[in-house]
Amino acid sequence: MLNAEQRAIIKATVPLLESGGEALTTHFYKMMLSEYPEVRPLFNQTHQASGDQPRALANGVLMYARHIDQLEQLGGLVGQIINKHVALQILPEHYPIVGSCLLRAIEEVLGKEIATAAVIDAWAAAYGQLADILIGAEEGLYKQKEEAAGGWRGAREFKLVRRERESSEIVSFYFAPVDGKPVLKAAPGQYIGLQLFIEGAEQRRNYSLSALCDGQQYRISVKREAGGKVSSYLHDELMVGDSLALFPPAGDFTLAASDKPLVLISGGVGITPTLAMLQAALQTQRPVHFIHCARNGAVHAFRDWVDGLAAQHPQLKRFYCHAEAGGEADAVGLLSAELLAEWLPRERDVDAYFLGPKGFMAAIKRQLKGLGVPEGQSRYEFFGPAAALE
Ligand SMILES: Cc1cc2nc3c(=O)[nH]c(=O)nc-3n(C[C@H](O)[C@H](O)[C@H](O)COP(=O)(O)OP(=O)(O)OC[C@H]3O[C@@H](n4cnc5c(N)ncnc54)[C@H](O)[C@@H]3O)c2cc1C
Ligand code: HEM
Repeated sequence: MLNAEQRAIIKATVPLLESGGEALTTHFYKMMLSEYPEVRPLFNQTHQASGDQPRALANGVLMYARHIDQLEQLGGLVGQIINKHVALQILPEHYPIVGSCLLRAIEEVLGKEIATAAVIDAWAAAYGQLADILIGAEEGLYKQKEEAAGGWRGAREFKLVRRERESSEIVSFYFAPVDGKPVLKAAPGQYIGLQLFIEGAEQRRNYSLSALCDGQQYRISVKREAGGKVSSYLHDELMVGDSLALFPPAGDFTLAASDKPLVLISGGVGITPTLAMLQAALQTQRPVHFIHCARNGAVHAFRDWVDGLAAQHPQLKRFYCHAEAGGEADAVGLLSAELLAEWLPRERDVDAYFLGPKGFMAAIKRQLKGLGVPEGQSRYEFFGPAAALE
């Protein structure tokens, strides 16, 4: 526990971190990745190059510092962090590495005059407290996943049993465990962690499960990213019969039980978690409005499958918007507030889930609010480190 003086120091240094937090974490990352090569595979190099990862960590530390007196107000942040950590297998032994690099970075960025021994002591205590909260919560999740039916801890070997093209740029991959035993049933909306060795270097990535889990296999659907290490490898190299390691499914962007009408809105490959959610929702009576935006007809994935479900289930209404003309769509252009107003259920007391490129998500968030969907009923996640959606 921090004493009163340490708390006062933490609160006093929040403004400094707010103005220099990003420089601090960028410096910290550089130091950690060069001095501790063992943690390098845990981090997606692109997210650091873009600044998203240092920004996410800076935000995490700042939020914590701001709420040092009322940690319960951190709300969903802890759940979000621990799920990301668990899906990438962040372990207790990694925390001292981050802690020591972070403290050294504080010292180096702020300079010895500001970062006095008392300031460093206070931050060491604060980091220790936060690390204990995260390590404890993560161990709880690891244990839960290990003890559940079909569950496991760490890496488990799976084989690719089927590949299927879904659009000009998205391919689905079906994985079954090599041990032939059942797998943990993931909640609709969750993702798994892949561990791959490409040209000798370890890579870890998260992919949402794009189908409701049947207890035997997992399906992911991956968009080929130009120059992307893992997506290119999956598209070009991974063939049926090849094996790779998976970490157990995790994620807190999951379909909550509710009778309210459900609205699923996706852009591009952001469709993946909404497919599992759609399947789960159709096992209940709730009305579902499924809205999907794609660049054009060629990249529009899962269209036949969703159309098939709509033909079987009168509770499902589907709407497609293509940015470019030429394909079969209900609208052409970007999804505007007017269009969304038409496609939402008339009654705005709905549960909405959305995912897509950042700009798309920022617009949807604004539009849903403007159209009267209660903010607490509008949920989203990112296919990368969390960021502000303003
Ligand atoms: C929770 C979660 C769920 C996800 N679900 C899905 C899903 O269902 N389907 C899906 O397709 N993806 C999903 N993703 C994204 C996925 O994890 C990968 O990020 C994505 O496949 C790209 O990985 P990659 O290795 O192919 O590309 P990377 O090698 O990471 O590169 C990505 C892009 O950045 C560029 N790049 C690489 N290095 C640099 C650099 N130094 N500077 C600038 N640009 C650079 C590359 O050219 C490429 O265009 C999800 C992510 C998360 C966090
Ligand atoms: C108190 C300590 C820590 C805090 C406050 C913290 C905070 C965060 C935050 C806010 C995110 C983004 C979550 C999201 O995108 O939803 C994140 C992701 C991540 N963290 Fe941590 N973290 C801590 C410790 C660690 C440690 C010890 C490691 C491993 C060495 C680690 C590795 C990662 C990785 C690999 C990701 C995902 C990065 C990506 O998407 O590219 N973190 N963390």
